[in-house]
Amino acid sequence: MTRTGIDWTMRVTTTGVGAAILAVAAVLPWPAVAAERGEPTYTRDIAPILQRSCQKCHRPSSMAPMSLMTYDEVRPWARSIKQRTGLGSPVGVMPPWFIDKSVGIQDFKDDTSLSPEEIELIARWVDNGAPRGNPADLPPARVFTGANEWDIGEPDLIVTTPAITMAAAAPDWWGALEPVPLGLGEDRYVSAMQVKEFSDAAGGVGGKFIFHHALMTMIDENGDTFGDYGWPNTTTGRFGWTFDPEVGRYVRGGSSLLYHSVHMHANGEDTTAYLKVAFKFHPAGYRPTKQLGSLGFGTPDVDLRPMEANQAFEFYMTLDEHTRMTTFGPHMHAPGVRFCIEAIYGGRSETLNCAGYDHNWIRAYLYDDHAAPLLPRGTILRGTGYFDNTPANPNVVDPRNWTGFGHRSIDNMLLHIGPAITLTEEEFLAEVAARRESLGLAAGETVIGCPLCGVSRFPDKRPAQDQDQQ
Ligand code: HEC
Repeated sequence: MTRTGIDWTMRVTTTGVGAAILAVAAVLPWPAVAAERGEPTYTRDIAPILQRSCQKCHRPSSMAPMSLMTYDEVRPWARSIKQRTGLGSPVGVMPPWFIDKSVGIQDFKDDTSLSPEEIELIARWVDNGAPRGNPADLPPARVFTGANEWDIGEPDLIVTTPAITMAAAAPDWWGALEPVPLGLGEDRYVSAMQVKEFSDAAGGVGGKFIFHHALMTMIDENGDTFGDYGWPNTTTGRFGWTFDPEVGRYVRGGSSLLYHSVHMHANGEDTTAYLKVAFKFHPAGYRPTKQLGSLGFGTPDVDLRPMEANQAFEFYMTLDEHTRMTTFGPHMHAPGVRFCIEAIYGGRSETLNCAGYDHNWIRAYLYDDHAAPLLPRGTILRGTGYFDNTPANPNVVDPRNWTGFGHRSIDNMLLHIGPAITLTEEEFLAEVAARRESLGLAAGETVIGCPLCGVSRFPDKRPAQDQDQQ
């Protein structure tokens, strides 16, 4: 397990704005000189990195504490940026992307992680005094959606939940919200959705959140749930979900949105907040072309000894359908530090992915289409969670305690959460063949995540009795 403790005292002292400005000023050389020497500058080297990997969160009315949109906004944070991007361990690293790059599949949608060269470049820029550089080098500003716009595009329907008020200092609250009718006269399929918390606390959108997370479902006119799939969990700061176009999610005409479980927390200010849930629909008449599956599986069997690092627990699932795994979704709680998933098929066992874990972030990683694991029926998925129940893990409140399974963050969880696509035999064989072709695999050659890509001859389609006679 690769993980180093983070020096908590250092993190706190470097985050003070004043301290950071003083520290930067003290080592600041003449910026133009740095630029002439070919040293990294903000305008040429750093701004493009921040645009790609940081600004989605570090901008006004998003989730991060400060904006990193302009040089003047970035400069006071220079030393802190060097420290956070260079941490190397999951807890606190920026951007919060924890995939272990030394093992498994590396092709993900929206991969904003920094390369070792970029991390080094940022460090060098900061050590040189964080020079601005030539204004002409600055790339055009990246344009983001505004506080009242939606990342999924113009919604077809926006539903507003009842409001909840939390006192400035109050214990956490769990409960259900009253259902809200969608007002749909006909059945539709959802193509994308997004949830935003609006509140009267300072900042409005992206201000001080009180919804920790919210679990939703849909109910029909009789109050019964329908659809054999779950809806995504809303957690603070999520940007929205665009569902795979092959598997839109069904809502019935006359149905209502039900938040059956919300978890609220106080934010230090009396706050009333509600959720706005935006939906985009497929055109009327759309039908899914594939079947939505789920790779939600785990174990309640996590007994953590006190004051001990590197405790590992495993859990398993056997696939009873051919499956395209679209999402890698590690889920643990505060003591979790690393999560791996392996696929075992026949005599072959391969690590699909490992990721560090920081319970301040619940991340799902979406595979690129050409890299999503194609797993045959009968594959055994083995998950392994690694836990650090010592003072070296800053997310653990009191590591002197034994802890077991439970819903609170200080209890444990160990599961994989994520949608998948279930494939028929025909679809599966076609996708494996297409994968082999698109990757240009030679006979017998295979890649991680496609255990049958190397098989030159698939089980043929002769009637079962023929095969029995062999
Ligand atoms: C997914 C959203 C997200 C992305 C992407 C992201 N950040 Fe952050 N960042 C946050 C949040 C939320 C916090 C506050 C929580 C924390 O400190 O971990 C934060 C905190 C920080 C801090 C510490 C601020 C303090 O108070 O000390 C720094 C520095 C930072 N980010 C820099 C970056 C840089 C540089 C990048 C890109 C290379 C980046 N972040 C990418 C969301 C993000």
